[in-house]
Amino acid sequence: MEYTVLVVDDNRASRECIYRHLQDECRVILATSGEQALKVCSKMRPDLILLAIEMAGMGGFEVLERLGERAELSTIPVIFLSTDNDTETEIRGLERGAADFIVKPVNKSILLYRIGHHLRFHRYQHLLEENVRDLEGGIVLGFAEIVEFRDANTGGHVGRSSRYVQILGKTLRKQSREVSDAMSEGDLDMIVRAAPLHDIGKIGIRDRILLKPGPLSEGEFEIMKTHSTLGGEILRRMYWRTPTQHYLKFAIQIAESHHERFDGSGYPKGLRGDEIPLCARIMAVADVYDAVTGNRCYRQGLSHEQTRGIIVDGAGTHFDPRLVEVFLKVETQFEQEFNLFRVESGGIAGGGGGVGMDISPRAA
Ligand SMILES: [Fe+2]
Repeated sequence: MEYTVLVVDDNRASRECIYRHLQDECRVILATSGEQALKVCSKMRPDLILLAIEMAGMGGFEVLERLGERAELSTIPVIFLSTDNDTETEIRGLERGAADFIVKPVNKSILLYRIGHHLRFHRYQHLLEENVRDLEGGIVLGFAEIVEFRDANTGGHVGRSSRYVQILGKTLRKQSREVSDAMSEGDLDMIVRAAPLHDIGKIGIRDRILLKPGPLSEGEFEIMKTHSTLGGEILRRMYWRTPTQHYLKFAIQIAESHHERFDGSGYPKGLRGDEIPLCARIMAVADVYDAVTGNRCYRQGLSHEQTRGIIVDGAGTHFDPRLVEVFLKVETQFEQEFNLFRVESGGIAGGGGGVGMDISPRAA
């Protein structure tokens, strides 16, 4: 029995009739009222709902409205059942989001045909949405990789730094109720998705500066710093065109604020403390860890222990001290990720774009 169909009707004869029609075709759950149907849906997600319009207590229209208020239930196809073969009621139901309308008493062949049609349609729709999501994910990583290819020193940085963001975010959520309320699991997923785009603004930095092997002059460094605002601007335009892509909200905050410092001495705005979005404070630690451990054309990457020292020294000045505490709890996971990369790349670690870090000789 591949599918589960929820039948909601306060008329016993009608429920039993539908049950007999469907029992050999799918798993059937019966609810005797609108209220009971919502309770069932809060525990499991049926693949399709057959919903009587006329019921004592909560009627079919109200049940449909309540289902629509919950994102995870709003896409379940709902077929209205009515004794009233009235065009106006049918139109009203379809307008409010019902997938179909069947008049009682229900004919078995019509019922099976319509249910089969909607289940198939719904499955294709779901597959299509999954494919679009994959495609979008591919495009996002593609953008990030364009930047990575231009900045020849940062091989693998985007992938690793988003893994570090995930490790820090997950642990921070676990240890603080305040944080887990402010940053849901879904938010963290979006932040991890957004992290590879943090340096997208480098796409607008001239090669002469981006690829310069030696230290940057003060003027060049000022230009390099614009990658944060530029990245925010690029992503803001993307979000404006695709407002359903909510992870772009986080991508904008991360791109704009990942070089802000906790004590207000960062750029571009000189934000301090909690003024810096949490996702950007997390990114700052991840970005610096990866950049410092990685090789640049003008220096060797530092060891995990040396990098740990830099991060600990930066608590309260460069970094949010709470995040440094979290880093110390999960540092072995960071080290494992880093070692994994060293093995994969034959011992040559790539380094990130920690523009403006104390240890960088380019930070003129
Ligand atoms: Fe950056």
